[in-house]
Amino acid sequence: MSNINIENIEHYFSEKPKCPPEYRIIRTLILGKLFEFITCKGVFSYKRIDLGTRILIESADISRGSYVLDLGCGYGPIGIAMAKVYNCKVIMTDINKRAIKLAKENVIRNRVQGLVEVRRGNLYEPVKGEKFDTILTNPPLAAGKSVIYAIIEGAKNHLKKNGSLQVVVRKGKEIVRRKMEETFGNVEILSKRAGYRVYKSILY
Ligand SMILES: C[S@@+](CC[C@H](N)C(=O)[O-])C[C@H]1O[C@@H](n2cnc3c(N)ncnc32)[C@H](O)[C@@H]1O
Repeated sequence: MSNINIENIEHYFSEKPKCPPEYRIIRTLILGKLFEFITCKGVFSYKRIDLGTRILIESADISRGSYVLDLGCGYGPIGIAMAKVYNCKVIMTDINKRAIKLAKENVIRNRVQGLVEVRRGNLYEPVKGEKFDTILTNPPLAAGKSVIYAIIEGAKNHLKKNGSLQVVVRKGKEIVRRKMEETFGNVEILSKRAGYRVYKSILY
């Protein structure tokens, strides 16, 4: 037992990562603004902003000041960028305790406390009864198809009329595209870059 490395068997979507924390600071320009994120081992893409995440942020179809859900926020790059760039009011949620701690710290570091609220929980449970203009997600594909389907189907109950679900995906893009089309009756491509797609479905 002693030579099993916990990092090799643990996934970033654990509720409570067990690997010892190792912190990093990411400073980066996104849409012309400077951001600083504290990250840590045990959360998704802790060494740098994931390319899919950046592509979603850069291509998201967002109205200024709108109400946004960042589902599976990790350390918070998507939601924090929407608040800082578009002045959106954002709820960020994740199942991972370490991610939630970092996301709360990053809200302060990026001075968007008045705009962003961070909540922990499974899927849509932390936003029961709430409806958004936009739901953004870089979904946890490693968590399996059932979680991805639950995110897509659940969005229907959490979008205002004419609101949209916007999803970035690389592996499994055809599965995601088909499920979004089946669920909403429409899907369009917002971005096609480096093997990634950003799909958008509208709730009519
Ligand atoms: C691909 S990562 C994206 C993280 C962050 N949005 C980013 O772009 O860097 C997916 C995130 O979903 C979270 N997650 C996995 N399963 C979840 C669930 N059932 N409910 C809520 N969040 C979940 C993971 O902990 C992880 O932070």
